[in-house]
Formats: sequence, C-alpha cells, structure tokens
Amino acid sequence: MSGIMAELEKRRAAARMGGGEKRVAAQHAKGKLTARERIELLLDEGSFEEFDMFVKHRTTDFGMEAQRPEGDGVVTGWGTINGRRVYVFSQDFTVFGGSLSETHAQKICKVMDMAMQNGAPVIGLNDSGGARIQEGVASLAGYAEVFQRNILASGVVPQISVIMGPCAGGAVYSPAITDFIFMVKDSSYMFVTGPDVVKTVTNEVVTAEELGGASTHTKKSSVADGAFENDVETLAEVRRLVDFLPLNNRDKAPVRPFFDEASRADHSLDTLVPKNPNQPYDMKELILKVADEGDFYELQEDFAANIITGFIRVEGQTVGVVANQPMVLAGVLDIDSSRKAARFVRFCDAFEIPILTFVDVPGFLPGTSQEYGGVIKHGAKLLFAYGEATVPKVTVITRKAYGGAYDVMASKHLRGDFNYAWPTAQIAVMGAKGAVEILYRSELDDPEKIAARTEEYETNFANPFRAAERGFIDEVILPHSTRKRVARAFASLRTKNQTNPWKKHDNIPL
Ligand code: HXC
Repeated sequence: MSGIMAELEKRRAAARMGGGEKRVAAQHAKGKLTARERIELLLDEGSFEEFDMFVKHRTTDFGMEAQRPEGDGVVTGWGTINGRRVYVFSQDFTVFGGSLSETHAQKICKVMDMAMQNGAPVIGLNDSGGARIQEGVASLAGYAEVFQRNILASGVVPQISVIMGPCAGGAVYSPAITDFIFMVKDSSYMFVTGPDVVKTVTNEVVTAEELGGASTHTKKSSVADGAFENDVETLAEVRRLVDFLPLNNRDKAPVRPFFDEASRADHSLDTLVPKNPNQPYDMKELILKVADEGDFYELQEDFAANIITGFIRVEGQTVGVVANQPMVLAGVLDIDSSRKAARFVRFCDAFEIPILTFVDVPGFLPGTSQEYGGVIKHGAKLLFAYGEATVPKVTVITRKAYGGAYDVMASKHLRGDFNYAWPTAQIAVMGAKGAVEILYRSELDDPEKIAARTEEYETNFANPFRAAERGFIDEVILPHSTRKRVARAFASLRTKNQTNPWKKHDNIPL
C-alpha cells in the first residue's frame, strides 16, 4: 500500500512541477505567476479540488510521445470564492506554452459541463500560445468544442475570462463570448493576428502591446472590462466581482450583510446639480452616495466614460447601475456608450440583477461619424436591451432627459417600474436653445424676443412636471432621499414577475 501511495505522491509532485523549474523561473521572471499559484490566489484557501491531474496528450507526431507531461498544460477543477462554488481552468504556460491540445480542451470542457450541470460560474485563466501546433486540426476541434460550450453557457452561468499572458488567433473567441474579460497590464495581450502578420498584410508596424495589450482593449476596443497591475490584483478583483453575481440564472445574487441605513439621507445631493444646465457634475458621486457603504464595482471604466456601468448593493442586494456621466461629452449617448450599456443591461437581465438607471442625457451625439458608424443600430441596442429586460427597473432623472434618449434610458414606456425625477429634471424633446432656434427661426436676429421665447420654453418644459402630469414620472423626489426611495422601490419589486412573449430568441440589432 505504501508503495502505491508513494507512487501517487511522486506523480502528483511531477504534475505540480508543470514544465519544470527552468520554465517556472522564466514565468516568474516575466512577473507572472504559475497556473497553480493563480488558482491558490483566486480561490478560498484549501478549497481547490483538482480534476484530471494525470491526463496526458496522445500525440505521436513530431516526437511528442517522448514528452507527455501530466496535466497537459492546464489545471482544472473547482473550489470556492467566499464560500460559493466556482469552476476553474488555468492554463500552464510552462507546459508547451499553455497551448491547447485535444486533451487539454477535453479537460476544459469537462469543468464547463460540470459548471452547467451544477449551476456555477466558470472562470478561465488564459495564458496560452494558442492551438498546439503539433496536433493540427485536433487542436482546432478542441477550441470549437470550448466555443460551443461558451455559447450554450451564455446566460445560464456567469463566465469570466482572465487574460494573463498571450491569447491569440481564434483562441480569443472563447473569452469574447464570455461575460467579462479582465487583463493584466503589460503581461497579457489578445489579437486575432499578431504583429508579424499585420505587417505582412497591411504594412503596419505595431507592437504586441499596442495591438492587443490591456490598454488597447480597455480604452479603444472595449474588448476587456478591466485591467489591473499584476496577477495578484487581477485575481483579487475577480473575487470581488464574483461576490456580486448569482451562481446561475435561476439563483439569486448573494445578499451581503450591510451596515448602512437604507433610509440614510444625504443632503449634499440637494446641491449636486449645478444651477447652470451646461455645467457638468460627477454622476459617480450620486452612485457612491446611494450604494451600501459607498461600494461601487465599475466595469469598462476607461471606455465610453460618458456612460457609467457597474454593480452596487442596496440593502445588501446586488443592483446593476447604468448612469449618464455629464462630466464626459455632457453624458451624450453615442455608438460606444450605447453598446457598452446595452451589453451590461442584457447581462443584468439574464442573471436577474435589478437595474438602477440615473439619467442626465442631452440626446444622441449628432454627426457624420456617428451616422456612418451606425449609431441608429447601436443606439437601438440599448433601447432593445432596456425594453426586453424583465428585471426590476428603477430610474431617476437628475437633470436632462431629452429626445429619443429620454425614451431609451429606462423610461416608463420601456416598462420602467419606478420612474423618479429630481426637481431639477428637464424632460423635453430638446433643450431650450435648440427648440427656440427651430420654432422661432424668423425671430433669431432679435435677441430680446429670443430671450423671452427661451424663458417661456424653460418655464413650460425645463421641469419634471409635464411628465409627472401624465404619469410618465411616478414621483418627483428630493435628491437627499434618493437612497431611501430607491431602496424602497427595489424592496417592493422583490416579487416582480414579468415575462416576454414566447419566442425562439429575439433578433436584437447586432
Ligand atoms: C506548441 C508552443 C506553442 C504552440 C508556444 N509553444 N506556442 N508549443 N504549440 N502554439 C511552446 C514553445 O515551443 C516553447 O517551448 C514554449 O511554448 C514557450 O514558448 P516561447 O516561444 O519560448 O515563449 P515566448 O517567447 O514567451 O513567446 C510566446 C508566444 C510564442 C508569443 C506565444 O510562443 C508564439 O508565438 N507561439 C505560437 C503562437 C501561435 O501562432 N499559435 C497558433 C495561433 S492560431 P519550449 O519547449 O521551448 O519551452 C490559433 C488558432 C486557434 O491558436 C483557432 C481556434 C479556432
């Protein structure tokens, strides 16, 4: 017996060595942790249960039969994050560059299948040279098996991809299908074709970092939802994110203890909106003052900052927040902000996370670049996402709600449950200046007349009461009571039950 146990221990030790000391040292020298070290940091201490530690590839081409390391370049299994189950795979760059073989893919598929069967999130730690070159099409088939599972799992269990090294070629499409992508600054990159191919095909000279580094994907492409300084910080942020999410689409997000009165009034909010309607203010201040203990988990912070998306808790319950940001482009809706918010709203709806919308929007951004870029279709994504969402929806208009953007931003007409406005709200087809210029074009060379017309328009429309008269606004609330009103609204909606007509699936304007 002791002989067998010794053999087991010997094999385990060999598997834990990955690609050997030299390659582990090279990994560390790049500032990267190993696959196992990452799992240790991601999961609760001692909670990891490994699968398939002894799986080996079956390739015999290129002399591969002589190199058959245990585990085949990926560590898989399950464990807990703050006591809640998650399934994990972590690619081991020290073994064939973390490249994906047929058996490597089978290991990933096994944990994905278990995650689906048992209803728990999948977290993938990606650090791979892509398809295992020695395996050819078997490796490509392996990728496609993973993609297919990503697709079926979408909207059923949360899927989180963490890019912690190279991620190139078709391999980027698995993370792309998942709900959230995090990257590590300076040591991870994602692209469909690398700098060498780019140079050959387009003659562009670009570094891997410029082409697909964390900065590119959080600021320009919006492929990634967040980027962090190093492996340790990135994994800590994944743990924080998981705390906001339900385990699956039939589960509720966890309710955390809170030490912040739901009825807490914040009188500083009464002066948040400046008197001058063209002066910006920071919408994040409102989010932080409404959230339990001022805790806000922002997503896509560096992309389309004219809209803010992220999670807070209200009375311990997870709430998804979408808010126009007057500090950036006056909070206008454009292609990027519409896409960003639409995807977030759809995630919340898929996982039964209530949505809180703060509105201060002057409209959609005009211009040829927006129209040529298809702002009509992209704006429609957000409209569609709000309109199809059946989760509790609470909306607070703080200042401007103009034109089509008023309709889009979780208005009453898109089945908003509680639509509140601050006394400073202005709900109209457009701002006073633009309206007067159109209605009274013939009087434009008479400044006095125009001033009087503008004042008349402002008196009539630059307030929340016209909308309130029609019931489009449920109530005009005092800014300092926003947290209390929002908390009571969500509490009353805990039993909300709304369904859409049966369909195979919708046809959102992609
Ligand atoms: C097999 C691979 C490999 C791969 C790396 N290695 N990529 N082995 N298949 N795809 C091995 C190397 O031989 C080396 O082995 C070890 O991993 C580390 O690689 P290095 O090149 O020494 O590391 P580094 O300098 O850090 O460069 C990393 C790298 C580079 C940028 C990822 O290795 C590289 O360009 N690899 C090929 C990437 C690629 O073109 N993949 C196919 C993409 S297409 P030793 O024994 O020396 O340690 C694709 C299609 C997916 O993936 C399709 C899905 C539909």
